[in-house]
Amino acid sequence: MSIENLEQIAQAMVATGKGIIAVDESTGTIKKRFEAAGVENTEENRRAYRELLLTTPNLGEHISGAILFDETIRQKTKDGVPLVEAMKKAGIIPGIKVDKGPVPLAGFPGDVVTEGLDGLRDRLKEYAQLGAQFAKWRAVIKITEDNPSSTAIEANMHALARYAALCQEAGLVPMVEPEVLMDDAESKHDIDVSYEVHEAVLRSLFNALYEQNVMLEGTILKVSMVIPGKYAPKDAQVGPEDVAEATVRVLKSCVPATLPGIVFLSGGQSDEQATEHLNLINQMGPHPWPVSFSYGRALVAEALKIWSKDQQKNWAEAQKAVYARAQENGAAALGQWKKR
Ligand code: 13P
Repeated sequence: MSIENLEQIAQAMVATGKGIIAVDESTGTIKKRFEAAGVENTEENRRAYRELLLTTPNLGEHISGAILFDETIRQKTKDGVPLVEAMKKAGIIPGIKVDKGPVPLAGFPGDVVTEGLDGLRDRLKEYAQLGAQFAKWRAVIKITEDNPSSTAIEANMHALARYAALCQEAGLVPMVEPEVLMDDAESKHDIDVSYEVHEAVLRSLFNALYEQNVMLEGTILKVSMVIPGKYAPKDAQVGPEDVAEATVRVLKSCVPATLPGIVFLSGGQSDEQATEHLNLINQMGPHPWPVSFSYGRALVAEALKIWSKDQQKNWAEAQKAVYARAQENGAAALGQWKKR
């Protein structure tokens, strides 16, 4: 695969007014989401739920791509059509989560490092054969009184860069995702601390990508917003304009203009917050790169709630809810969202 192909895929992922839907919860994470909604965590329920989301009528109007989990990329609709084929027909680019999740970083209490590099070259080859065109690896950075250590930042960014180089070798666009957590039980930091950590993380990431010969033109950044911790004291909370301003400032300071695009995760923000912040960020443009969304919870939470109440009867209504959230965030990606 040439760099031109990777560039084309990356640009399509951040096409004007479109974003990405994350349906790549690991079996453990989807268990938590299903339990909260009262849905049994069976393979068939996971399959049906993912089919519901991915076959939402006209989803491709606002969604450019979807990130799948290993189980999902192998699954079919109830009529026997591979989900990947159904997505391609709907104009949605298939992506795949390839990391194996965070584990404690030895020697650095409170820090974690994402695993999954061993055997990754072969796994990427298989995912490409299964139809994936991009991949995702999530590094998790926790903020506490003592974290993150600079070692944790470097170890995680090194792994992200090694992953990204392997993706490009396999013809997949790497989505590199450093997530600075805002919703950990210990997330009590203010917006200035969030800014400093994002700055250190992004500088380290782009250094590591350079060291590993990763072509930025064929890479997408997925990142958290600069926002206070969910459990910060009341006087540390800030307005949406502050979040948007700090986020734009750190991105402009750290992200090279050659990158084809930036997308955000929702990370525990409410549906409306995630949309409002994205909208404000785009209203502060034009920026050197398209800035859009790659939301999980902020796109699907409402649909899961509706579907869980009656999985047969509420199918279409749940799909309408996903479409509505995709449409709203598509408008926010243009800075044209209107608060209801
Ligand atoms: P959330 O939007 O729910 O944070 O999920 C996005 C994602 O893919 C995190 O890796």
